[in-house]
Amino acid sequence: MLTAYDFPTARILDEAGIDVLLVGDSLGMVVQGRETTLQVTMDQMIYHAEMVGRAAKRAMVVVDLPFPEGQLEISRSQLASARVLKETDCHAVKLEGGAEQAHRIEAIVTAGIPVMAHVGLRPQNVHVDGGYRVQRDTERLIADAKAAESAGAFCVLIECVPAEVGAAITAAVSVPTIGIGAGPDVTGQVLVTHDLIGFHSGYLPKFVRQFADIRTSIGQAAKDYAEAIQQGDFPGDSETFQ
Ligand code: KIV
Repeated sequence: MLTAYDFPTARILDEAGIDVLLVGDSLGMVVQGRETTLQVTMDQMIYHAEMVGRAAKRAMVVVDLPFPEGQLEISRSQLASARVLKETDCHAVKLEGGAEQAHRIEAIVTAGIPVMAHVGLRPQNVHVDGGYRVQRDTERLIADAKAAESAGAFCVLIECVPAEVGAAITAAVSVPTIGIGAGPDVTGQVLVTHDLIGFHSGYLPKFVRQFADIRTSIGQAAKDYAEAIQQGDFPGDSETFQ
């Protein structure tokens, strides 16, 4: 699973065989340049999800419920989730939280909308938790995942926990788990695509492996372009209408 926020990236990832695309509210940080995900709105999620859903031909597409769509009245969460299925070609929503969100998960699933639960580090809780920290309370995390599963979640995403906790949660539930910073013993893995391809401003969490260096490629292309113009080399004959 990888994140996608726009049509061309989603199409490339889909064609590369990625099974699940996540329109994550991480777009607030990696696309909008904000410090947290909290300012992202439901309208913005729909805008991005519509592009990604249309691009994906084989991947499942999951869309984050942004803050506070998954925190206020349950009927508001149902309506926000319904917008995802009604206004985009995406297939499911992701909701941060476990045991305390069980009623909400159940209500959304009952409305016919598949839910992926997100336990462990919950970025929308950043101010309550006092920062982005590795989550180590194994008992609570297992209880969260089990409650989400009992409420009808089809999958549990686990963020930033020690490897043995990722393994213990995965052993405790029968739905698939998707880890990000949760070690190797989970069902699948997810990364933010911008981190994976090196399209970021410098900071990378410990759990990221950067598989490409797009930032350097873009910077070099921009420099080469400017230099070609300054040297009178661009546009050339083949790039000019006669
Ligand atoms: O918003 C997001 O991209 C996420 C990932 C960190 C899994 O939730």
